Amino acid sequence: MTSSIPTQPSAAPAAIGHELQSPLDTQLLAQLASAIFRNAPDAPGAPGVSSAFSGFGVQPPHNIAPPGSPFASPAGFSPNLPGTPIPQGQIPGTNLLPSNPAQALALGHRPQIDLPKAQAGNGVPDVAFAALPGYEPRLSGLTAAAPVGTPAAGVPWANPTSHVSSAPQFYFVDAVQLPSGFVTPAKPHPHGAQAATPASHHERHPGFDVQAVRRDFPILSERINGKPLIWLDNAATTHKPRQVIERIAHFYEHENSNIHRAAHALAARATDAYEHAREVVRRFINAPDVNEVIFVRGTTEAINLVAKSWGGKHVGEGDEIIVSHLEHHANIVPWQQLAEAKGAKLRVIPVDDEGQIRLDEYQKLINDRTKLVAIGHVSNTLGTVVPVKQVVEIARRRGIVTLVDGAQSIAHTPVDVQDIGADFFVFSGHKIFAPTGIGALWGRRKVLEDMPPWQGGGNMIADVTFEKTVFQPLPNTFEAGTGNIADAVGLGAALEYVERLGIENISRYEHALVDYGMQQLGSIPGLRLIGTVPGKASVLSFTLAGYTTDEVGKALNAEGIAVRTGHHCAQPILRRFGVETTVRPSLAFYNTFEEIDALVTVVRRLAGQRRAQ
Ligand code: ALA
Repeated sequence: MTSSIPTQPSAAPAAIGHELQSPLDTQLLAQLASAIFRNAPDAPGAPGVSSAFSGFGVQPPHNIAPPGSPFASPAGFSPNLPGTPIPQGQIPGTNLLPSNPAQALALGHRPQIDLPKAQAGNGVPDVAFAALPGYEPRLSGLTAAAPVGTPAAGVPWANPTSHVSSAPQFYFVDAVQLPSGFVTPAKPHPHGAQAATPASHHERHPGFDVQAVRRDFPILSERINGKPLIWLDNAATTHKPRQVIERIAHFYEHENSNIHRAAHALAARATDAYEHAREVVRRFINAPDVNEVIFVRGTTEAINLVAKSWGGKHVGEGDEIIVSHLEHHANIVPWQQLAEAKGAKLRVIPVDDEGQIRLDEYQKLINDRTKLVAIGHVSNTLGTVVPVKQVVEIARRRGIVTLVDGAQSIAHTPVDVQDIGADFFVFSGHKIFAPTGIGALWGRRKVLEDMPPWQGGGNMIADVTFEKTVFQPLPNTFEAGTGNIADAVGLGAALEYVERLGIENISRYEHALVDYGMQQLGSIPGLRLIGTVPGKASVLSFTLAGYTTDEVGKALNAEGIAVRTGHHCAQPILRRFGVETTVRPSLAFYNTFEEIDALVTVVRRLAGQRRAQ
């Protein structure tokens, strides 16, 4: 990794030869980071940061174990005493602190986390931030200053009778005049209208230059069947920016080690990186406590964890679990298995003809036997944004535990778990530009602490004898064995990337894309849009008369356009609409209006050909 920052002789003490070769003056970097941070009035964590910590530009420890905790480590705050795994100190923040000179110096080996190029024009010299330790999350707020634009209103295909109460809160789309002449519709601001005024696309999406962003994603330069790749399969998985790819490479080149278990420098680096990623997840979803964030393989594993652990303890015969008709199989099957094992019952919230859940019917389903409501935030098949806050609120009034499946919302809408109010929120990293095989379960501390570990083994124990095992506190209770360390670090890098772009900017831009795609596809004869709730996120599901969905998918692939066809792991909701499969283009922020035009051109051509036969 190269840097254009002028190097100076390192003033930090060096304990290990490798660190002596650092090209960066770590103290200078740390001072620079801290100086910038101090000058940022809204920088999170600024107030109350002790000078000892802020001098290093790192976060102070928090969530210190209560005095007298049975898990308190004889090693106190030091993570580096041999035989003293860090979590035994019950001070999870401490592994972010350089506890010895070698670790302090290792800051100089932090990867450069390149800013998205879209931010390059904001007047902040990129190089200064790019060369600062990617470790320092608070810097991101200094570079992602794009203002939130005017929110938007109804969509052209919107049914005027649709449920107003179900309109998502994050549906901010301006009226945008596209080169084709189509004007994306505008909505009044839900919290007080700001008039939409004509403006260029660039002005309408300040801080968001899609062409610049696309250059961060190497795979978008691929050619498929001689055509430029058009990736419209983002609900299945997203591509990775080079910031994530390089971060993972950096981990394996400079930090690779198991975590928590050793006194050596690489263990410290790997632990720092892993725990930093946990903190980034916490920040991204606005969880109150970093120890409530548990790394898992993905959404499916997270839901299975809750079903096995929480469900195993709290669900019994005759109890009821509520899901919606929109759910992905991952939010159906684990509950079905639990219900079968316990003699409990699965109840299903119906959806209306646009694809929105029926809140009136939901309220009728709730009763004294309801133990859990598990609800998807965004439908992977229809794109419906579900009013999860309302769903949760209704359940919580009756003391019912709630889980929100954020697999399809995390990359498209701002998520604030405290605002949503659920007990669990789960998502997969690969849906948000991070690797596969890593995701997160957030759970409310009180609820998590009332759950038994679901897997036993290393990392989750505090003490083992043949008679008894004492478990680690959160989050390790639920992280048995060696986790997916590098990919967790990659997840942190992906979330930081999204933070720098600004999820509100992403949401606004994507909603304009979805509106445009729905309007264009909806004008093709013989094409049936499935899922037409206003304010949808990402997904444009359809069938085309005279074609199997597979035929449409193959014709699109011949033009380099990738979409998913099939049942999308959500058979019940497709059957609700009388189909077994759909064609499902799904969008991310790196997609363009021109790509939608290319999709529409192929589908329109198919429609014309079949009609001519
Ligand atoms: N859940 C993924 C999808 O919707 C696999 O395609």
